[in-house]
Amino acid sequence: MINLSEVEARAAARMDAAAWGYYAGGANDEVTLRENRAAWERLALRYRTMVDVTTRRLATTVLGETIDFPVMVAPTAMQKLAHPEGELAMARAAQACGSLMVVSTTATTALEEVRAAAAGPMWFQLYIYQDRGATRALLERARDAGYSAIVITVDAPMLGWRERDLTSGFTLPPHLTIANAVAAGSGHSRLPHGDGEGSALARHLQALHDAALTPRDIEWSHDVTGLPVVVKGIVRGDDAVRALGHGAAGIIVSNHGGRQLDTAIATARALPEVVEAVAGRGEVYVDGGIRRGTDIVKAVALGARAVLVGRPPLWGLAAGGEPGVVEVLQHLRLEFDLAMSLSGATSVAELTRDLVVDA
Ligand code: FNR
Ligand code: LAC
Repeated sequence: MINLSEVEARAAARMDAAAWGYYAGGANDEVTLRENRAAWERLALRYRTMVDVTTRRLATTVLGETIDFPVMVAPTAMQKLAHPEGELAMARAAQACGSLMVVSTTATTALEEVRAAAAGPMWFQLYIYQDRGATRALLERARDAGYSAIVITVDAPMLGWRERDLTSGFTLPPHLTIANAVAAGSGHSRLPHGDGEGSALARHLQALHDAALTPRDIEWSHDVTGLPVVVKGIVRGDDAVRALGHGAAGIIVSNHGGRQLDTAIATARALPEVVEAVAGRGEVYVDGGIRRGTDIVKAVALGARAVLVGRPPLWGLAAGGEPGVVEVLQHLRLEFDLAMSLSGATSVAELTRDLVVDA
């Protein structure tokens, strides 16, 4: 593999057009989708020289768990759209690469099955349902299944205006379900079909998800599970401080890969403000447009503990199942290792703020 764009092209060629549109698309004019990429590219590296980089250590920890390099698999819905083995293949690949998978509430496989597919740490991403009993049941199941943290996504009280999905009438094929919603006894586990009413996912979210999420839900999720809670979808220092004040152990700087509020600030630009506000009181991670080893170097240098990647593992899954995801993650690892070396660093601890300037 030369780069991730190559896998993206292979995935696009293999997938059904509407499903591809769902994976690839962003909200409205897709300004944020493009900006997420552009903002990493605009940062310039003030690399160090005359450093012996013969031996390097890429490993780090996230909430105390070791990962082999600072890349995690972001929660993405409906992975069986990419491959019949869906979330199970993703879990095995993440484990094989010493990464960590965050499993989506909106998976096409039950959370217990995904957890059982691979050893190694896994986090569960929670969407808060209007039915708090069903939400509590999801949290208890995640705890009992052995997930080691809960990730609450806070940037999707409603689904963004995704024009590709509205145009295609995006829905799930009849043989797939939102498995965790089935178990929650929801009448909305199967997306509605063929009624020409725009995005079925948008209607699923509207029917099920709670638009009244508050910081108290962080404490509640922690109380129910006893697990650390990470808050995903923050782009402001004051929001990060609010989350920490309600017990968050970590913050994921994210705009949902440009799929929610269009023209939202690019995550590379938001990261420094959040890192400064958190001031070491929790871990900070970032996602959105990470496609190169240099992007990872920049994110870590700006204070992220690790990054998450959303679409690239989906491309790997669509292009080649479990081995396809392994290829993607290994390629990112290789690019990161090279970029770190050429930056004059031999460990993630040596990726410091002074390495990055606005170009
Ligand atoms: C997502 N994302 C997402 N986030 C989340 O918290 N729960 C979810 O179920 C999903 N589902 C989902 C589906 C698809 C197809 C995509 C592309 C994304 C957002 C995801 O976790 C992450 O924030 C972004 O994907 C990161 O941006 P990149 O790496 O895709 O540019
Ligand atoms: C998405 C939701 C399900 O981005 O998080 O499609």
